[in-house]
Amino acid sequence: MTSSSSSLQNLRVAIVGAGPAGIYAGSILTNSVQAAGGSVAIDLFESLPAPYGLIRYGVAPDHPRIKGIVGSLHEMLDAGTTRFIGNVEVGRDISLDELHERYDAVILATGAIRDAVLDIPGIDLPGSHGAADFVAWFDGHPDVPTEWSLDQREVAVIGNGNVALDVARMLAKHAVDLRSTEIADNVLAGLEASAVTDVHVFGRRGPADIKFTPIELRELGEVPDVDIIVHDEDFAYLEGVAPANNQLKVMLRILNSWRTREATGASRRLHLHFYHSPVEVLGEGKVEGLRFERTEPVGDGTVRGTGEFREYPVQQVYRAVGYYGTPVIDAPFDEKAGVVSNVEGRVNNSHTTGDIGAPLVPGLYATGWIKRGPVGLIGHTKSDAMETIAHLVADAEAGALPARTVDGDVLELLAERDVEFTTWDGWLALDAHERELGATHQHARERVKVVPRDEQVRVSRSGALVP
Ligand SMILES: Cc1cc2nc3c(=O)[nH]c(=O)nc-3n(C[C@H](O)[C@H](O)[C@H](O)COP(=O)(O)OP(=O)(O)OC[C@H]3O[C@@H](n4cnc5c(N)ncnc54)[C@H](O)[C@@H]3O)c2cc1C
Ligand SMILES: NC(=O)c1ccc[n+]([C@@H]2O[C@H](COP(=O)([O-])OP(=O)(O)OC[C@H]3O[C@@H](n4cnc5c(N)ncnc54)[C@H](OP(=O)(O)O)[C@@H]3O)[C@@H](O)[C@H]2O)c1
Repeated sequence: MTSSSSSLQNLRVAIVGAGPAGIYAGSILTNSVQAAGGSVAIDLFESLPAPYGLIRYGVAPDHPRIKGIVGSLHEMLDAGTTRFIGNVEVGRDISLDELHERYDAVILATGAIRDAVLDIPGIDLPGSHGAADFVAWFDGHPDVPTEWSLDQREVAVIGNGNVALDVARMLAKHAVDLRSTEIADNVLAGLEASAVTDVHVFGRRGPADIKFTPIELRELGEVPDVDIIVHDEDFAYLEGVAPANNQLKVMLRILNSWRTREATGASRRLHLHFYHSPVEVLGEGKVEGLRFERTEPVGDGTVRGTGEFREYPVQQVYRAVGYYGTPVIDAPFDEKAGVVSNVEGRVNNSHTTGDIGAPLVPGLYATGWIKRGPVGLIGHTKSDAMETIAHLVADAEAGALPARTVDGDVLELLAERDVEFTTWDGWLALDAHERELGATHQHARERVKVVPRDEQVRVSRSGALVP
């Protein structure tokens, strides 16, 4: 029997998920415990062979500046106080109970990788996709097919968030303008074969209700050989309405500038439609169109249907209506919100997050998108982690963490189970390998991602000394 950690001495903590939330949590926990004169050993479990979550498999390849955030996350992991253990899915390769036996506390940081549901007729027709699947494809995620059909001319994107912008931009952009990015070769080949000429983006509310951000919206207007088309009728309700904040003010200025911009005769067009609520994906056996009800503002930020319906002849549909959190087997999950049930990061036994009356699960915490839902930027996961870690540290100091009952290195258990886990050294080997592939590529790039999981594991494990 191992003793309970009723203080900050010899604390052992497992973090599940090596996205930004998990990595920030590890770093902040180390700093907090060390500042209080304590000591902590942290194991960071990740189901993919490589770290960085949606920064590697969500942020678009033509956003190298954002991808560059991994530089500071790399430093946090390289400091050696958090041990990266990749290619291990908690709930499959090792259970949550087994983590509780070996660690004083477990922090869930599993983020989100799936699309939220859009429950309209026809949404499951062939040719109707979740944005998350397309994103995973263009970012070289190992668990999605390597081929993507782009032989349609007119495609629709539903949603007015930044993911919709990413998807629309990647569909409209010519492959030649992506060559210098870290895009995988199979993705470049897929985009080179694209027949897409018209991308239609539909928001169910108005231009003043968009969830885009200014830099990303402005970027849309700078894509070479793509004309942006907006419709005057969508701006009629905005007469005399003051934008709610500065960001919206800037974005309305951008949208308005596109109303008067001359079309250049570009070979591709990106159409922005507002006040279109999706009603049905049309088609027999495959997507042939999309039906919407026109909406109008009510005055409180919401809209109502007008009873006018419109149909658009599109052959492919992408729903970018939000992501949905990744549950962990045996952890309380709020199905409706798609988050682990918690109050300020302390997981509780409830099916409704924010239910402050529900009993806490001792030693179990959540942070990042799985804690508060799939909204917010990378930087927000840092403040999230600060809140969660403050509670964990307080609980440890109060002696409120349950006793761990099993000693020994978890890597021995994983090896006994023939789990081909990857390590930090393994990531350094894979990282160096991908950079080398980029440097020697015909279009010199910072890196070329290795896509297949088994190849990532092979490079990681052969390049690193696996204990
Ligand atoms: C398409 C897209 C583009 C984005 N672009 C930007 C951008 O340009 N700038 C910006 O600031 N923000 C961007 N964001 C938002 C940003 O990605 C998120 O804020 C951030 O990634 C959330 O971090 P997280 O660690 O909570 O989750 P994630 O990044 O999703 O990381 C969760 C990790 O947990 C792992 N995991 C899940 N289940 C298990 C399990 N059972 N066992 C082990 N590991 C598990 C996953 O594999 C993953 O690596 C984007 C989001 C999306 C969807
Ligand atoms: N470059 C970047 O910085 C970047 C890139 C990608 C993602 N991100 C971030 O990642 C987070 C997630 O982005 P996201 O785009 O997935 O989510 P989001 O910002 O929440 O946007 C979701 C969009 O889907 C719409 N929607 C939801 N349900 C719908 C329905 N039933 N019918 C029609 N439309 C519906 C929403 O409309 P309503 O507004 O009407 O609800 C909204 O326009 C955001 O914080 C985003 O900023 C950042």
